Amino acid sequence: MNNTDDKPVLVCQDLTKVFHDGDLYVEVLQRVNLAVKKGERLAIVGSSGAGKSTLLHILGGLDKPNSGHVYVAGQDMTKLSDAARSRLRNRTLGFIYQFHHLLPEFTVLENVCMPLLLRQMPLKEAEDKAFALLEKVGLAKRYKHKLAELSGGERQRTAIVRALVSDPVCVLADEPTGNLDKRTAERVYETMLELNQSLNTSLIIVTHDMHLAEKMDRIYVLENGNLKNY
Ligand SMILES: Nc1ncnc2c1ncn2[C@@H]1O[C@H](COP(=O)(O)OP(=O)(O)OP(=O)(O)O)[C@@H](O)[C@H]1O
Ligand SMILES: [Mg+2]
Repeated sequence: MNNTDDKPVLVCQDLTKVFHDGDLYVEVLQRVNLAVKKGERLAIVGSSGAGKSTLLHILGGLDKPNSGHVYVAGQDMTKLSDAARSRLRNRTLGFIYQFHHLLPEFTVLENVCMPLLLRQMPLKEAEDKAFALLEKVGLAKRYKHKLAELSGGERQRTAIVRALVSDPVCVLADEPTGNLDKRTAERVYETMLELNQSLNTSLIIVTHDMHLAEKMDRIYVLENGNLKNY
């Protein structure tokens, strides 16, 4: 376990989410509660369609709940305007997706610098910071390569570096190794855990992979709209 302190960095209270499909109402989340401490690592598992991605999107301010609250760094995201919510999200959270969402025509270094440049960091400083982190995960020799020229595992490791480069308080990862073979997936988790430990960032990972889930501090199952201890 990393150094955690008791103050949670991300909290959700009584989250509910309902989707309408014609006349059908699907209550995907039913009063979900969760508190993540600094540096803590959580896995969320559950069957397909259980609502894991929906929960992660709401925690990350990418979607809104029907009711309930999400506090990130002490601020209630559900009460903020769209612009203020994006700012809070950019300042405090990192995202890793199953299919990486990087820019294929840009280099590894440019992709990793992007979140820092969005925060107005000067180019040289951003490049130095990005390069240092790429070096840490063994990707420095690829820094000039276009994303399109990398392997799936290298792209996913680049996505991890990009999610962590701006020192987020919490990283939200949705099936970060879902489309990788077992050995590459192993390498990708190692990268993720190494950075999470050295930067003391909290981590919430949605995964079907119990081997990865068991490396986390806690495992929750999302079932019938609720989180239960595994
Ligand atoms: N935008 C939407 N409109 C209507 N229904 C939706 C929408 N997004 C998700 N759903 C429904 O909500 C439920 C939960 O979806 P979600 O994507 O969160 O599941 P999941 O647990 O991430 O599944 P998987 O493991 O397959 O990724 C599903 O029944 C899905 O069809
Ligand atoms: Mg999903």
